Amino acid sequence: MAEFHFVEDYERHVKALIKAFPIDEAMSLAVGGDYDRIGGILANILAYSGIQNGMSVVDLGCGSGRVAKSLSKNFDLNYLGIDVIKDLVDYAASVCPSNYKFKINRKLSIPARAESVDLVFAFSVFTHLLHEETYLYLEDIWRTLKPGGTVVFSFLEYRMKSHWGVFSNTVEQQRASTKTHLNMFIERNQIEAWADHLGFKIQEFVSGDIITPNNKEALGQSTVIIKKPLEI
Ligand SMILES: C[S@@+](CC[C@H](N)C(=O)[O-])C[C@H]1O[C@@H](n2cnc3c(N)ncnc32)[C@H](O)[C@@H]1O
Repeated sequence: MAEFHFVEDYERHVKALIKAFPIDEAMSLAVGGDYDRIGGILANILAYSGIQNGMSVVDLGCGSGRVAKSLSKNFDLNYLGIDVIKDLVDYAASVCPSNYKFKINRKLSIPARAESVDLVFAFSVFTHLLHEETYLYLEDIWRTLKPGGTVVFSFLEYRMKSHWGVFSNTVEQQRASTKTHLNMFIERNQIEAWADHLGFKIQEFVSGDIITPNNKEALGQSTVIIKKPLEI
């Protein structure tokens, strides 16, 4: 493969949306839509996961800034958003405070120093990657996290009846040759195996239909909160 599939997939997808819709709508649709509402739910999930003012955080697959914009309303962070698509990152920077930094990153690694980050989060990102790509990110997230640091990511799983629709739509897109990008499910036992091999401890799985204490609505996708132990 000359280029990673996720760059080609998303470049095509985003260009088509920009052509078809006004820019704000295109930038919302490019990350799954419902920009402000979902951004708010995701920021609240991060609050539930322990995000605090002053933390160094990396938003892996930040897209058009849906999470960053909501976070910036309540948190003063040392924030780095990384993504593979320039149009998305440029838009994200335009809707966030100037101290929020954004970077194009097309490697399966995190552009941060070892043990420099408190929290890495990836919402609706590993859902579009091959499992071995996700594992490489988790391996490098381990390197960048401070001891006691946290990784939070969302995922699709068959135990959630509501996730079946994503799979069946993907099957229909495959049948019609209209699939724009991968939709990958990840089962909890896979996440447990990855965490075990890398030395992480799983703090909590949050099913997609559970409303976390500081949210009014459930996310839809399931979420996992994982810790790098303080003592290794
Ligand atoms: C469904 S969107 C979600 C964006 C954002 N996390 C949110 O929830 O609003 C998926 C994002 O992942 C990005 N992406 C895909 N593969 C990536 C990779 N290998 N590294 C970083 N970002 C990636 C896409 O460009 C896109 O912006």
